[in-house]
Amino acid sequence: MTAPPRHVGRYSPSTVAAHPDGRLVSPSFERNAGPIRAALAPLLRGAPGGGAVLEIGSGTGQHAAHFAPAFPELLWVPTDPVPEHRASIAAWRTISGALNLAAPLDLDAAQDWAAHPEVTSLGPLAAVFAMNVIHIAPWAVADGIVAGAARSLASGGRLILYGPFAEGGRHTGEGNARFDAALRAENPEWGVRDLDEVAALARAAGLGAPVVTAMPANNRLVAFACA
Ligand SMILES: C[S@@+](CC[C@H](N)C(=O)[O-])C[C@H]1O[C@@H](n2cnc3c(N)ncnc32)[C@H](O)[C@@H]1O
Repeated sequence: MTAPPRHVGRYSPSTVAAHPDGRLVSPSFERNAGPIRAALAPLLRGAPGGGAVLEIGSGTGQHAAHFAPAFPELLWVPTDPVPEHRASIAAWRTISGALNLAAPLDLDAAQDWAAHPEVTSLGPLAAVFAMNVIHIAPWAVADGIVAGAARSLASGGRLILYGPFAEGGRHTGEGNARFDAALRAENPEWGVRDLDEVAALARAAGLGAPVVTAMPANNRLVAFACA
């Protein structure tokens, strides 16, 4: 589903703890998985027609293995363009035993992913979820996530983004300002996104206004509904 240039993995046994079976350990899992699961619950319970949640940039897959059993009426479909990440996601899937956790897809969100047969075969999606992705990727990835979500969501489905956001051109805290500077130093195409700019993308794609949940550590969970 992806084409060169290939992506550089964020996680590998040299950067995070790893289990012998290939499971990589997410550095943020212990502190953010519970609050994010709780914030997702009202958005995903009663999602249109059951259906699938397509997760973009699943990373280690540790979160997907935690979220899928919490929403047994939905099929959780993890994805990532990095082979080592997909191997970790697959290993977390095996150990979780969650019947509603699909095998990871190779998906580059900057491409026309909504047209790929592995996505269209899922039917209209209950949700598209991307956690800590759009600020650690070029703007084309935010654009691709929004465009693909608008094409593939069921009526009443939601695009859900989690991470740090600036609001009205300002960072929501000193930590996010420092994080933004570090991201841009690492890659000038990265950076904490402004919620207004992401909302403008969503509006142009035909999605609804952002519904924002404040999360610990100045993060936000932002949901856009599909009409
Ligand atoms: C900071 S990690 C977040 C991983 C996981 N969602 C989490 O919160 O632990 C960013 C993830 O985005 C993925 N990513 C980077 N570029 C991408 C792209 N063009 N399309 C889809 N995913 C991408 C990376 O491979 C990585 O797994």
